[in-house]
Amino acid sequence: MPETRAALTNRPEWQTLQKMKTRLEQQPMRAMFQQDPDRARRYQIEGAGLSLDFSRNRLTDDCLEQLLNLARACGLRERRAALFTGGQANVTEQRPALHTALRECAQAEVRVDGQNIIPEIHHTLERMEALVQSIHAGNRTGHTGARFTDVVSIGIGGSFLGPKLAVEALRPYWQGSLDCHFIANIDGTDVTETLAMLNPETTLFLVQSKSFRTQETLENSLLARQWFLDHGGTEKAVAQHFIAVTANVDEALRFGIKADHTFPMWDWVGGRYSLWSAIGLPVALTLGMKSFKALLSGARAMDKHFREAPDRENLPVVMAMLSIWYNNFWGAESHAVLPYDEYLKYLPEHLQQLDMESNGKRVTQGGTGVDYHTGPVIWGGVGANGQHAYHQLIHQGTRLIPADFIIPLRSHNPVARHHATLFANCLSQARAMMAGKTETEAEEELLASGADKTTARKLAPHKAIPGNRPCNILLMDQLSPETLGALIALYEHRTFVQSVIWDIDCFDQWGVELGKQIGNEILPMLLGENGGSAGDAATENLIRLFRSRSGL
Ligand code: F6P
Repeated sequence: MPETRAALTNRPEWQTLQKMKTRLEQQPMRAMFQQDPDRARRYQIEGAGLSLDFSRNRLTDDCLEQLLNLARACGLRERRAALFTGGQANVTEQRPALHTALRECAQAEVRVDGQNIIPEIHHTLERMEALVQSIHAGNRTGHTGARFTDVVSIGIGGSFLGPKLAVEALRPYWQGSLDCHFIANIDGTDVTETLAMLNPETTLFLVQSKSFRTQETLENSLLARQWFLDHGGTEKAVAQHFIAVTANVDEALRFGIKADHTFPMWDWVGGRYSLWSAIGLPVALTLGMKSFKALLSGARAMDKHFREAPDRENLPVVMAMLSIWYNNFWGAESHAVLPYDEYLKYLPEHLQQLDMESNGKRVTQGGTGVDYHTGPVIWGGVGANGQHAYHQLIHQGTRLIPADFIIPLRSHNPVARHHATLFANCLSQARAMMAGKTETEAEEELLASGADKTTARKLAPHKAIPGNRPCNILLMDQLSPETLGALIALYEHRTFVQSVIWDIDCFDQWGVELGKQIGNEILPMLLGENGGSAGDAATENLIRLFRSRSGL
């Protein structure tokens, strides 16, 4: 157990920040830019191929310094060092969280229980490479000798969201002729619609589950297996068409996947941090191993930046502390992730799991209830689409929603004036959030456009935009395996830094267990296998309704 810390809200840094917030309320961001012509340059930092412009924040130098002091006082330096070197970062499960080791180079040394884990990680990478090459070269085929054309990843949560994000984000780097599909949901539509597109002779299934106990993944895998058998496959051929990635080799074996068709996971890798392991096989198979390794190297560059850059220049540290600032001092309840890049459309979903499953906690590492807010709601979607949907609430709603805009300088598809237009939209949204429009400005604009005085006065409050809504802009030259790796690792570390401030375990997820447990009790009642009580009238009522309608 960690040593007991001073209560967060009693820390002098915390209390100073509270006073600073009160003073800053009176200071519009527009004025900050006017007073300091150098602000845009001074609030721009870089690392691992990414550049963060955080000038549009309700922040002064003093305030940033105080936020960084708070991070230091909460032991960030020590906790970060422990994270990378195999300390028990996951306190409640008493194990390290070594996703960073997965992207280390072969010469590195990281020990768990005295054993260097790097050779095993690289041995797995070699096995992945051999598999990818043999499939791409047509040496490893389906049971009829036909080349594989499709790979289907069956997994959910961390065994799904990261690979799906990377596969879709890196479409311009796809190599070979494999198409990639994902089945995650236990809604029968997911598996039915996916299998309907496939040819069993040329389809490779990856059963991706760290625990090999996840209901959705197991049910979907059994169904896929049966579909394979029903369409010309044989029990013997299952081995050729099904590969497992799991830490539970015995369960995979019971399913019919032999050890030599199983890639390892380790208990020191959390599901939502597992993209970098063999869980990344859909990425490696679709893009080729070279690009998968480039993804790892981008993440490694961000790890190095996070470990070595001074706090004031450190992207994950600055972004995390800004999030603490708005979450704990300004009352923000959510955080918007707004990639202005179609290829990054699955980023918000991945970050939702990463951040909300990690930091959705209400007791400290020592088990005491917190008296401050922890993880905010993470949400978002691609720009410019969101501008015609939820940005209205960001600009004029009553809630404060800090946002991260993410945009590459160069597009993979530079058609007509599209990228300049997209970029203009991104900048305009950030400016509108920051500067807003006063009621007087709105009234003047209306008068200038020919409105009479009464109409202008009447409409001005509706057209005024408060501004002073903070946002970051994250830039990269172009979306690539390296920059994507760095981007995902950036958010991983941002999540970790926040957990250090809040003193919570960001590597466990006990909150998801109760629902699973109750679901397992309800299922036999729905199926009529068990007539027991569901425990409450509301649930029982709907069980009755389901049974009366489902024909079961
Ligand atoms: O239910 C939550 C969870 O445990 C996630 O943390 C995890 O990523 C997901 O389920 C899938 O777990 P597994 O890889 O063990 O199937």
